[in-house]
Amino acid sequence: MKTALIILAAGKGTRMNSDLPKVLHKVAQAPLLEHAMASAAGLEPAHTVVVAGHGLDLVRAATNEFDETAVVVEQTEQLGTAHAAQQARGALAGFDGAALVLFGDTPFLSAGTLQKMVDALATHEVVVLGFEPADTKRYGRLVMQGDTLERIVEHKDATDEERAITLCNGGVTACRAPLLFDLISQIGDDNASGEYYLTDVVALARARGMSATAVICDEAETLGVNSRADLAAADALFQSRARAALIEDGVTLTAPDTVYLSRDTVIGRDTVIEPNVVFGPGATVETGATIRAFSHLEGCHVSRGAIIGPYARLRPGTELAEDVRVGNFVEIKNAQIAAGAKVNHLSYIGDATIGKKANIGAGTITCNYDGVMKHRTQIGANAFIGSNTMLVAPVSIGDGALTGSGSVITSDVEPDALALARAPQVEKPGMARKLFEMLKAKKAKAQRGS
Ligand code: UD1
Ligand code: MG
Repeated sequence: MKTALIILAAGKGTRMNSDLPKVLHKVAQAPLLEHAMASAAGLEPAHTVVVAGHGLDLVRAATNEFDETAVVVEQTEQLGTAHAAQQARGALAGFDGAALVLFGDTPFLSAGTLQKMVDALATHEVVVLGFEPADTKRYGRLVMQGDTLERIVEHKDATDEERAITLCNGGVTACRAPLLFDLISQIGDDNASGEYYLTDVVALARARGMSATAVICDEAETLGVNSRADLAAADALFQSRARAALIEDGVTLTAPDTVYLSRDTVIGRDTVIEPNVVFGPGATVETGATIRAFSHLEGCHVSRGAIIGPYARLRPGTELAEDVRVGNFVEIKNAQIAAGAKVNHLSYIGDATIGKKANIGAGTITCNYDGVMKHRTQIGANAFIGSNTMLVAPVSIGDGALTGSGSVITSDVEPDALALARAPQVEKPGMARKLFEMLKAKKAKAQRGS
């Protein structure tokens, strides 16, 4: 059965105490909304509709950054979850597959659980996600008769007896789209909150003699974020699971608790990650690489056998081929470095292409920015860049060329040439001794005078 996602994300998230809409706060460097979309991506949804209200434009931008085919619809007033889901009706006109309504602030749902819900639609008209929380807090309670879900009662509206029910609503509802919108159109707001409750679809379906049930998942899957404390807890949970998954996949983390990962971090087998390494968004590392302590990687690709750090910073657009070496206090941005090249100490390489087995000496800087525009530096295969060379871009160094230490290179260097661009050395015999004697005499005179 084809599926469509309706992701509710119009709420302000008052308890975040923030100008940013709640669903754009990040866990593992990715907005909560992106996590929700990514969890459901495994279902290969035919449509994704995000219902936004607070921070509409920002939510639209984040939605389309992750999935440019997703549609964002506006809910101008937050009148409840049923009213929010109803806003997706126009976007799903003519779609008669399964609609899954989920919340944008619930980052850890698994595709497997969502698939189970879709599968359950083969025998039930409405399927709701249920879970048994350690603390039932203010969750809606699932009123079951055997396997049949009779209705959902919101905490505020529940009797003491209903509040004693431990099975709660995890917030995901599955139903064929035409039926969902039909049921929603019957929902009223006569309840303790004066809101249109999506949860009322269950009792309405049962009143029509239709079947409803619950699919049960772990509490961790339904974890919702409502405050900064929840956000930090969600990040911590993400990190511990992602680290465990990497270890399981054959990556060595020498001090797992100190490694920070992003939602989309990819690391290959037999790679070693030393302590205190941070992966920002968009980092991929192939098999058999070593990322040494205190390195920071984002938007970069590291190929097999490369050794990075300690204390290296790889910024977006960095592509390192096999067996590249990047040493301590080296920053690389938007640069492609070919196999076996080395940038081992204290360098900045930005907007550059470096050829195979080139050796970039300590303190080399690509001067890529003239204050207005960025320019590229090309360095050929087997070139040897002497320590403390300033490469003033745009500039190109030929294959096998050599630059003398301390050179300021402003024009292109031919292959195999030696370029020296520094003041010639001047030597004055005996002058150092004379100078020191003069200075000492001056100091002694000053001390006598005081
Ligand atoms: C909801 C469920 C409750 C369940 C709980 C699980 C209802 C009526 N109740 O309650 O049974 O146990 O989630 O966490 O559905 N939203 C909109 N527009 C609105 C209202 C809400 O987009 O007008 C969005 C919010 O941004 C949020 C989501 O819907 O992402 C859920 O709304 P929220 O107010 O948090 O519902 P709960 O009271 O937690
Ligand atoms: Mg909530």
